[in-house]
Amino acid sequence: MQSISLTIDDATIKAEAGDNLLWVALDNGFSIPNLCALRGVTPPFASCRLCFVEIEGRSSPVTACTETVRDGMAVHLNTPRVKKLRSTAFELILSHHHLDCRNCAKNRSCDLQKIAYRFGLKLKPKRLRVIPRNLPVDSSHPLFIYDLNKCILCGKCVHVCHKQGTGMLDFAFRGMHTTVTTLAGIPLADTGCDSCLDCVVICPVGALVAKPEVSLVEAKAEVAHLI
Ligand code: FES
Repeated sequence: MQSISLTIDDATIKAEAGDNLLWVALDNGFSIPNLCALRGVTPPFASCRLCFVEIEGRSSPVTACTETVRDGMAVHLNTPRVKKLRSTAFELILSHHHLDCRNCAKNRSCDLQKIAYRFGLKLKPKRLRVIPRNLPVDSSHPLFIYDLNKCILCGKCVHVCHKQGTGMLDFAFRGMHTTVTTLAGIPLADTGCDSCLDCVVICPVGALVAKPEVSLVEAKAEVAHLI
């Protein structure tokens, strides 16, 4: 690997050529909002569109999770264009998210709340209409609950479920009707799910949550390398 240096908000950073820009920035203490990135997973899913940055010499902002670093690169994290794209992407996510923080099991540990707080974004969309999904909540599994109405389509649960070799969860439908669901939408209890709970740990919001008294310790160790 070839050692290179780049600047992020004018601070000089050392990295290896070809490293992923998002993880280089995060590992060096910079904040870039992200909901769909998983460490070491290529190609990146790049669905949340929150991780925009500006790179000198590029005509428009780019997503950090899809960029690799190179020597002499100059990156800016909070330009007006970045902030505008970030806030629009955040509103788009929230326009499909059933916002019920007070009654949500992930209240105070939800990544949407953390990002809103850290980057001064509002949890209630102001410009975009909220389009609720009103889909049934799947409580059939003995260990966890899946509320599709809170799913932000980050794809993390799909990745870990496939990695586990089970692949019970996957994307279905298209456009604004896209959901993460089981094959033919059958209840989770009927899928043959092996109850690893990796999907519950990796879910950044309150879509997949453990039932009370269920321990996530083993599952947390299993996915720690991805986050
Ligand atoms: S983290 Fe880059 S698009 Fe989601």
